[in-house]
Order: sequence, then C-alpha cells, then structure tokens
Amino acid sequence: MAKVSVIGAGNVGASCVEAMLHLNFCSEIVLLDIKEGISEGKAMDMMQAAKQYGTNTKIIGVTNDYSKTANSDVVIITSGIPRKPGMTREELIGVNSNIVSSVSENVLKFSPKAVLMVIANPMDPMTYLTLKKNKLPKNQVVGMGGQLDSSRFTYYLAQALDVPVSDIECMVIGGHGDKTMIPLIRFATYKGIPVTKLLTKEVCDKVVADTMVGGATLTKLLGTSAWYAPGMSAATMAKSIVMNERKMIPCCCYLEGEYGQSDLCIGVPAIVGKNGWEKIVELELNEEEKALFKASADATRSTANVLKEQNII
Ligand code: LAC
Repeated sequence: MAKVSVIGAGNVGASCVEAMLHLNFCSEIVLLDIKEGISEGKAMDMMQAAKQYGTNTKIIGVTNDYSKTANSDVVIITSGIPRKPGMTREELIGVNSNIVSSVSENVLKFSPKAVLMVIANPMDPMTYLTLKKNKLPKNQVVGMGGQLDSSRFTYYLAQALDVPVSDIECMVIGGHGDKTMIPLIRFATYKGIPVTKLLTKEVCDKVVADTMVGGATLTKLLGTSAWYAPGMSAATMAKSIVMNERKMIPCCCYLEGEYGQSDLCIGVPAIVGKNGWEKIVELELNEEEKALFKASADATRSTANVLKEQNII
C-alpha cells in the first residue's frame, strides 16, 4: 500500500484526504500545511472517523516538516491562494508561482521519485513551472484539471438528459481556464449513444458553456473556490497512479508534438499509472475542435510565458 502526501490543508487538500479515505488505497497519508495546528487537527478529526470510513489508512498532520513526507509515491500540491468571486485562475499566478516553487523543491528533497500532482492555480502554468524549475522527467509531473472539468461536464450532461451520472462518459481537454477548456461534446455519450443525437444544439451549447464556467459558478456561490469535486478528482487520479490502474484521464501533461504543440503543459487524455502520466492519447479532432485546441494552447502558453518574463523559470 502506498504513501501519499498532500501539501496544503485547506478545503481542497482536506477534501482530497477524505476522498482518499473513501477510496481506501493508501497505508499512509501525510497532510502538511504551513499554518500550525490546522493539518494536525484535520488529520486527527479524520482519524477519529477512520473505523467508520472502513479504512486503516494512517493520517499524519504536520506543520511544515517536509521530512515527514519522505518516500511518498505521490505528492499532491494544493497550496496557494484560491480564487475569490470575480477573479480568474490566471490572476493568481504571481503569488502562487512562489509558493509552488518552494513547495515542489521541499517535496523533492525527501521524495525525489514521487509523482507530483499540481492543483494550485493557474494549474497549467503551475504544472509547467514544477516540471521546468525542478528539471524533472516529463511523466513525473501531472496537473489535475481535466478530471474535475470532465466531472462537471458529466454533471451538466446528466442533468440535461435526466439520467444517472454513471451512464455518462465525457472528457474536457485544453487549459483549465474559463475560456480555455474544451468540453468535447462530440465525444460525449450516454451509454455509448452520442449525446448530440439526444439533445438539441441549443442544449448542447448550454451544457458546454455551463461546464466552462463550472468553477466560477461555484466560486460565486461559495465565496471561494470549490473543494469536494476537486478533492475527489485528485484522489481518483492518485489511485490510478498508486494502483497502476492505467485509467484514461484528461490531465495536464507536457506536450512534445502531440496535438500539434510543444513545450507546453495543457490538458489532454492520458493513461495514468505508476509512472505518472504514461502515454498521451491522440483523439481524432475535427477542424473546429483543432482550432479550439490551438486557441486554448496559445492562451495557456501566454500565461506560462509570464513565468519566463518574470525570471521565475
Ligand atoms: C476549480 C478550481 C479548483 O475549478 O480550479 O474549482
């Protein structure tokens, strides 16, 4: 059984730990935060429910002591400030790039082989930063966005069709931004039946639009960014890595020619297993989808370029 560390004991980090308890695939989970007491408290609170979760996973809460994360198989980086209503994910780049730089450096001192999963926003540039700054092999760094966005796409499709979410299959690729994500409606199915045969064009367009602003809708309602679906999405990805499930998950990977892009971290479907993301799956996109992907890549690259302009990488 595996060891997973979660950096940042805020809403997303703590929800991710809880989701991993439900999925029950770790022997040990370390929850680390810079704020004294918070990770210890949340870890103890969850441990006191461990019997009822039906797990023997040991959860350890620590304040800033990275040595406790040593030999992790996966480290999930949630640290950084979340967005507030009206803010874009891109606006967080200045503050969060410093946080993600120092967190990833500290993590790697004790777990040089761990797969690093980045959630901090803006997630695609933060994944690129983690990879480049630490000069890691490309498969070792993966960003979590596509799994969450696909999960939201599933929700909106199930609502529109009035069917159970379990009967929907769909993917969101591209950047994890309100304007950059691409819900692939043409590939979405209800039990193998294309949803485009079951819903009108107007309804399909609305589902796509609602999915793209799914995070912003929740930020407006909650006053901060969401946590249950982000936490569970990260936990699902961590399980695919640790158990070597090799699930196909849309996630943020470093492209070297795939989808016509290079030197860029962006969301694409990939096989996720013990080495991190193992293989990118190239979908046969039509001209319209290719154009959307190109525009998404251009926007994501220009945000990542801020890191170069500011000499962060
Ligand atoms: C969201 C944040 C986690 O989409 O990016 O809710």
